[in-house]
Amino acid sequence: MWKFPKPIRHTIPETRWPNAEEAANSLLYQPISIGPTEAKSRTWVPAMVPWRATEDGFVTQENLDWYRRFAKGRPGVLVVEATGVRDTPSGPLLRIGHDRFISGLRKLVETVRDASEGQTKLFIQIIDFLSVKRRPEKEKYFARFLLVNEQHRRVLAEITEDSRWIDAGETEVRNFLNGANEEVVEHVLNARELESLRFGYREHVTDLHLPHVRELPQVLPNIFAEAARRAREAGFDGVELHYAHAYTMAGFLSALNDRSDGYGGSRENRVRLPLDVYGAVRKTVGDDYAVGVRFLGDEVIAGGNRLDDAVYFGVEFARAGLDFLSISKGGKFEDAQQPKVGHAVYPYTGQSGYECMPTVLSDKTGPFGRSVPLVAAIKRAVNEAGFKTPVVATGGITTFEQAEAILQQGQADIIGLARQALADPDWFVKVKLGRGDEVRRCTYTNYCEALDQAHRPVTCKLWDRVDLDETGIATVDEGRRRLLAPDWKA
Ligand SMILES: Cc1cc2nc3c(=O)[nH]c(=O)nc-3n(C[C@H](O)[C@H](O)[C@H](O)COP(=O)(O)O)c2cc1C
Ligand code: SF4
Repeated sequence: MWKFPKPIRHTIPETRWPNAEEAANSLLYQPISIGPTEAKSRTWVPAMVPWRATEDGFVTQENLDWYRRFAKGRPGVLVVEATGVRDTPSGPLLRIGHDRFISGLRKLVETVRDASEGQTKLFIQIIDFLSVKRRPEKEKYFARFLLVNEQHRRVLAEITEDSRWIDAGETEVRNFLNGANEEVVEHVLNARELESLRFGYREHVTDLHLPHVRELPQVLPNIFAEAARRAREAGFDGVELHYAHAYTMAGFLSALNDRSDGYGGSRENRVRLPLDVYGAVRKTVGDDYAVGVRFLGDEVIAGGNRLDDAVYFGVEFARAGLDFLSISKGGKFEDAQQPKVGHAVYPYTGQSGYECMPTVLSDKTGPFGRSVPLVAAIKRAVNEAGFKTPVVATGGITTFEQAEAILQQGQADIIGLARQALADPDWFVKVKLGRGDEVRRCTYTNYCEALDQAHRPVTCKLWDRVDLDETGIATVDEGRRRLLAPDWKA
């Protein structure tokens, strides 16, 4: 995991919890309109992938139990994990790319509705991603994956001062490069080839030479629109378009997107496909359905989007009619650490990854509410442009005092708690009942994120070894971890 050069270890903030009356009078527990729907409070559980779907992307009993557990805590809004919009295999991640997925998702909706007694609105985050392959063994890369071309031969001839390389056979070039030192390899391969060798092959939205990447602007609007239609048919209260982190739509928004086909370069061009996708979704689901977006307040990578880009996009999204703006930060491939051979690159291992899920090992700002200034700037611009689109702040928000201050100061309209809700899904109901001192406080050390990185079922270190002998509980790792937080005996 990436670390600051001289990290400072922060402690989780001391706090005074409100009594029930203070909670009832707080902004946090007031209802809020989100487009055509209304949340009962301004609390939000952002999308978190728990690695519980079947290999084919269907909802499992473990998924139902996972979301039931969150629903019992009654957040205002619960967002279901990033769910793939295509009908292509993607491992144990939920999918919504075909009508056969609807019935399982409908069960999920019913489960949440029952468990929250209708108090929690349920959205689903829908995502498209491009292909990412595992890092290959060097021998395999040079023997099979590298496409040997004239340029390689020319550079080889140059650096060895041996013109025979110009006509050398492919096998000879492959064998030489496999045995060559790093310096030679760096000279001969171009930046993308080096990336494939060192990190594993990964498609970029700028790969216009690949027909399926070139055609993304033509195909994605309909694919997202169909996914949103299924979400509505399954009974979700709304969809969240995933335009954040390391995935296709964030790739289009990124300042690194220099596509030359009218969908890259200027901000206007970069936001074009994201708006086309939204337009198609809106046309399909109608005006009486909540459609929002999650995007980045800052990409935190060299040459990437900064706050001024995010402000521009936020205003354009609001102008287009999106019903909420949920702001995240970082989480990119570009600065990720090199994976081990046989592993895929994980976009939360560089500085941008730190900013996405900040830990207590931080700089002097610390992890708590670290993204709030970005959110506040986006909200200000959106409001000044004449839109009231609610803006969701997430990132190291853990206490009622912190959440309420953000709302009171007008920095955000809704408060997202991801890891804190994972640590204690009952946060929302405990605080509302004036029993905040019973909250199991997240320690922001990212044990859960390490499980995500390893593609293992996500649990929290504060509860996954508690009462393992409880009858009837589901466990993993030969009974060493429980899959759900113990029930709160209110
Ligand atoms: C295990 C795990 C899985 C996550 N999965 C997603 C996801 O599917 N989509 C998404 O937009 N963010 C995802 N995130 C990021 C969170 O939604 C959130 O933005 C981040 O954890 C920072 O908020 P927090 O400090 O309240 O945890 C995930 C975070 C964790 C810890
Ligand atoms: S594992 Fe750690 S960081 Fe993750 S939710 Fe639990 S306490 Fe928080």
